[in-house]
Amino acid sequence: MKYGMGRRKGEQIEGWGISMKELAVGEPHSVDPRDLFEYPDRSFEIELGSGKGTFLVQQAVKQPETNFLGIEWAAPFYRFAADRLRRHGLSNTKMMHGDGTEFLGYWCADSIADVIHLYFLDPWPKARHHKRRAVQDETMKHFHRLLKSGGLLHLVTDHDDLWQWYQEHIDRASDLFETREFQPPDSAEGDEVVGTNFERKYRIEGRPIHSVTLVRCD
Ligand SMILES: C[S@@+](CC[C@H](N)C(=O)[O-])C[C@H]1O[C@@H](n2cnc3c(N)ncnc32)[C@H](O)[C@@H]1O
Repeated sequence: MKYGMGRRKGEQIEGWGISMKELAVGEPHSVDPRDLFEYPDRSFEIELGSGKGTFLVQQAVKQPETNFLGIEWAAPFYRFAADRLRRHGLSNTKMMHGDGTEFLGYWCADSIADVIHLYFLDPWPKARHHKRRAVQDETMKHFHRLLKSGGLLHLVTDHDDLWQWYQEHIDRASDLFETREFQPPDSAEGDEVVGTNFERKYRIEGRPIHSVTLVRCD
C-alpha cells in the first residue's frame, strides 16, 4: 500500500518512536510497554492504528497523568505521528511501529491497559480480506486479557459492514464484555465522536459514524 506521504523535513522521532522489533523479544505475553514511560505506574491507554496521531496529540494533553501508546504499521504515518508528539512535547506519549494485532496479541503481558482505542480502522471490504480486520474472535480474547479489570475498549467506525462485523464479534464475546454507550473524549470538538483525521474527512462526506464502548467483565 502506498501512502503518498514523504518524510517531513527535519523529522525527529528519537524519544517518541520505537520499533516493535526492539520490544518484541523474550517469551510470549511477557512484554510490558508501560516500561517505556518515565512514570510507568500511571494509567495506560493504547491506540491501535493511530494514523497521523491526531487523537493522541489532542487527548494526551488533556490527560497529562496518563501514558498513551499509539501503534501504527505504515512507516510514513508512524514517523509523522512520533515527530508530531515530540513537537508537542508530550512526554506521556510514545508511538510504536509495527503490527498492533501481533504486538498486543502475541507479545504483550496481561492486565496492562486501562483503555484500548480502535478508531476508523481499515474495513478490508472484500470477503477474502476479512481475516485482515483487527477485530476477530481471537483478538477480542486478547483485548480482554490486556485490559485491567473494568478496562474499556472503544470501537468507532464509519463503515456499515465493519460495524456489522463488530456487532457479531461483540455478541460472541458477551461473556467477556458488557456494552456501553460511547462517550466522546473531552478533546472532541462540537458534535464530533472522537475528532480523528478520518472522522473529519468522513463527516464531510456525510457518512454515519457508529460507536460503542465495551467494558471488561471479570
Ligand atoms: C483508516 S486509518 C485511521 C487512522 C486514525 N485512527 C484516524 O481515525 O484518523 C487506519 C490506520 O490504522 C493502521 N492500522 C491498521 N491495522 C493496523 C495494525 N494491525 N497495526 C498497526 N496499524 C494498523 C493503518 O495503517 C492506518 O494508518
